[in-house]
Amino acid sequence: MANMTLQLLVWRQTGAKDEGRMVPYTARDISPDMSFLEMLDVVNEGLVASGEPPIVFDSDCREGICGMCSLVVNGIPHGPDRGSTVCQLHMRRFKDGDTITVEPWRAAAFPVVTDLVVDRGAFDRLIASGGYVSVSTGSAPDGNAVPVPKDLAEAAMDAAACIGCGACVAACKNASAALFVGAKVSQLALLPQGHPERASRVRTMVQLMDNLGFGNCSNEAECEAVCPKEISIANIARMRREYVRSLLVGVGR
Ligand code: FES
Repeated sequence: MANMTLQLLVWRQTGAKDEGRMVPYTARDISPDMSFLEMLDVVNEGLVASGEPPIVFDSDCREGICGMCSLVVNGIPHGPDRGSTVCQLHMRRFKDGDTITVEPWRAAAFPVVTDLVVDRGAFDRLIASGGYVSVSTGSAPDGNAVPVPKDLAEAAMDAAACIGCGACVAACKNASAALFVGAKVSQLALLPQGHPERASRVRTMVQLMDNLGFGNCSNEAECEAVCPKEISIANIARMRREYVRSLLVGVGR
């Protein structure tokens, strides 16, 4: 495939008080083998060379692990490829002459910092409120000391695949964090190591989710559709069951 020229419409916003706007750019000489973020790097090199401020966006690992890249591409969090992050999206997915819109996650709980960067500290606060387990200090226990049935171990690992990118929130019309919290609650509730805080964890995290400004879940599954790790909404159902269980047994069990 020959190199391409693309028209970009990119969200630019200088800070939380700025209204923000879509700004057109032309991305020239873009190799189909570039990743989407490398394409933005090329555009930024041109902006810097001409004395304009570069487009600000987040990234770290650029291989689908860290969850830092948080771009809405053509209206879809992480872009058109299912089960992958925007850093794994390649320019061969587009055609020469295409117009591509690039926006940040949009949710009240994720305020825009600059351009395409949002503050996802709300997720950190949710994890700090309950996303941990009690462990005894001392020497490392034998790996086989606590047997875990295979089906539960696998379900816990599937939930633990969540990288906390926030695409679920960005895709949801209610800006709900139910898939994220459901994954974290499930991961720990399914394993015996997570049981000391099993009831208090779900009560605390669900309450905080509401307090931080995330909306409720209306079971439309946009979150599952855009999740780069394809976390199932079955984890939301499990979170709800865990919540009811916590009301029945009381916190501390
Ligand atoms: S930059 Fe780490 S997942 Fe995209």
